[in-house]
Amino acid sequence: MAEITKSQHSEWSSRFAFILAATGSAVGLGNIWKFPYITGENGGGAFVLVYLLCIVAIGIPIMIAETMLGRRGRQSPINTMSILADEAKANKNWHTVGWMGIITGFLILSYYSVIAGWVLSYVFKALTGSFSGGNGETISALFTDLMASPVQQIFWHTLFLGATMLIVARGVQGGLEKSVRFLIPTIFVLLVLLVGYAMTTGYYQQGLDFLFKPDFSQIDSDAVLVAMGHAFFTLGLGMGAMMVYGSYLPQHVSIAKTTLIIAGADTVIALLAGLAIFPLVFANGLEVSAGPGLIFQSLPLAFGNMTGGWLFGLLFFVLLFFAALSSSISLIEPAVAFLVENKKIKRTTACIVMGLMTWILGVIVALSFNVWSDVTFFGQGIFDLLDYITANLMLPIGGLCIAIFAGWIMKSKDSAHELAMEKPQFYALWKFLISYIAPFAVIIVLLKGVGVLG
Ligand code: TRP
Repeated sequence: MAEITKSQHSEWSSRFAFILAATGSAVGLGNIWKFPYITGENGGGAFVLVYLLCIVAIGIPIMIAETMLGRRGRQSPINTMSILADEAKANKNWHTVGWMGIITGFLILSYYSVIAGWVLSYVFKALTGSFSGGNGETISALFTDLMASPVQQIFWHTLFLGATMLIVARGVQGGLEKSVRFLIPTIFVLLVLLVGYAMTTGYYQQGLDFLFKPDFSQIDSDAVLVAMGHAFFTLGLGMGAMMVYGSYLPQHVSIAKTTLIIAGADTVIALLAGLAIFPLVFANGLEVSAGPGLIFQSLPLAFGNMTGGWLFGLLFFVLLFFAALSSSISLIEPAVAFLVENKKIKRTTACIVMGLMTWILGVIVALSFNVWSDVTFFGQGIFDLLDYITANLMLPIGGLCIAIFAGWIMKSKDSAHELAMEKPQFYALWKFLISYIAPFAVIIVLLKGVGVLG
């Protein structure tokens, strides 16, 4: 029976190890790089509110469902979905959800690695004191120069992806677990200090207002779609990453409780990043809608002008690099786990194959910021398009399938057994959210966002 099978890969050593790894997967560029810039592009408070709503009503129930399916199936997402479909006497084709997830993860990693490469290059800029005494112009120039250079971007992308594949090749316990232990607490402390600095700029209140005073005239159905897509992205949902991590989870651990801790930590870190960045943006007359360069153009201004900023900036980008690393491993782990299980190839070989494919697509993304910056599809550049399709369409669709499976296909007695919640009301609440609220909301937002519902 599924509930007694163990994963063939290995298990987390404890509940704490799982929390670390899953928080590592959740907290990453999404929180510190993406959340502020899409908040800036979508007008602030109202967008933030919708994003928070999506985390609570859609993200958390689906995160519980995805982890639960993974632990019950105990295999890579493709095989897990087949096993669980069997168990529920449902159509075998549910394993397509696993396939789609693997493809989504690979697509996301290709651009994730390029952005993480930018972070790495900023580690070196910090090291060599490039931020020191900088003003809006000099700091922006650093970023523009990086964007213009395919060689630099490809170099850093290669380093980052190499590091990711090395960790994944070493396997769950050797690699994934150890890399997160000090990371999250330290990032948290650094962000709190940065928020402290932001308070000294005289623009703190303006930043606060921008983030938390909702003005609904600022958002339309596309912004709502972006907010929902980001809820999936930031929690690492909808492509089987949590399913794989769940499959390594010991049986006695409470999934719902751990999920709440992880989602809470993820949200707090994103909001802190926003609180640190927007006052700087206003204080230095930068554009809130600057796009993907926002943190690279704002944070170094703080580092360049505060006492001890050299060390602080260095520390910050090093930590952001590690946060990105602990996320990127979860993007590719489902694909690697699948190749190991079904193609009977070694973990190392699987990593080389996936690494090479991701590297090539990443190079294309890096070129889209310069040489191919005028290549557009549907009015969007290569990077924007990839990001839009994966985060705003593929992850929500994956999440929708997971919600439908957990809410409607899987037998209630099985999900209740697997979740083993303390109170029946908690199970009933989850079951209601996953069967009705989450799928309904995802469908409406998707259809409205792409314009089908007008
Ligand atoms: N959540 C990570 C971030 O915020 C990115 C990430 C890791 C992810 N694993 C994922 C996104 C799986 C979608 C699906 O940076």
